[in-house]
Amino acid sequence: MNDPSDTNETLWNDVDSYFTDTLLPHDPVFAETLRAAEAGGLPPISVSAPLGMLLHVLVRTVGARRVLEIGTLAGFSTIWLARGVGEGGSVVTLELDPRHAEVARGNFERAGVQGIVDLRLGRALDSLAEIEKNGEGPFDLIFVDADKNTYPEYVRWALRLSRPGTLIVVDNVVREGRVLEESSDDPNMVGIRGALEILGAEPRLLATAIQTVGSKGYDGFAVALVTA
Ligand code: SAH
Ligand code: DHB
Ligand code: MG
Repeated sequence: MNDPSDTNETLWNDVDSYFTDTLLPHDPVFAETLRAAEAGGLPPISVSAPLGMLLHVLVRTVGARRVLEIGTLAGFSTIWLARGVGEGGSVVTLELDPRHAEVARGNFERAGVQGIVDLRLGRALDSLAEIEKNGEGPFDLIFVDADKNTYPEYVRWALRLSRPGTLIVVDNVVREGRVLEESSDDPNMVGIRGALEILGAEPRLLATAIQTVGSKGYDGFAVALVTA
């Protein structure tokens, strides 16, 4: 085993741990949330703790009171978002898999955010249509992190449910550089590229994307501000 990328991954992981220990609040609820995810057999694909903290900081930076998340899993990112909106704020989070939702609900109770988080079980596209029908928008910050093949539709929905000043964050837009594969027939990569094209072409958005390495390997996220 002399793959240099192994060394890099270990180093990226160690630096993420160092940042987590040095910079982030020592709240045991986050480690407990990941332990419950693992115990429930959920995949280890929650955002890293430093990225969770960035979501929290972004929520507070834009003064978000109403947050929408597409893709809950065990609720790790949801809890970072919920801690940011505080009492009186809300996070609506959309999840398809009832097993994930059950683990997430336990985590929300443990974190004491069950009164802030509103988990909607079902296909996100159905929940989004319902949210619009009920006039529940606009949201102040929207985090897109569910099935990558549907990302273009999620970005269009994010725009529909936004207002000038809304921040849209899209996870996993690099995928170890596979985002460059123009003629990929992987529906996830087609979806990610389609979403980025919408973000770049939409005149109401100021958009960028940042590559990351860390405990989740080589990936990245996009951030877009709705301006009009
Ligand atoms: N945001 C989470 C990780 C989400 S992983 C965190 O960082 O902590 C992606 C989640 O999206 C999975 O739980 C998966 O079940 C869910 N998902 C996949 N397809 C979906 C769909 N069509 N509608 C709603 N949720 C979906
Ligand atoms: C993976 C990572 C994610 O953050 C996600 O939302 C979905 C999948 C992954 O590494 O497979
Ligand atoms: Mg993700």
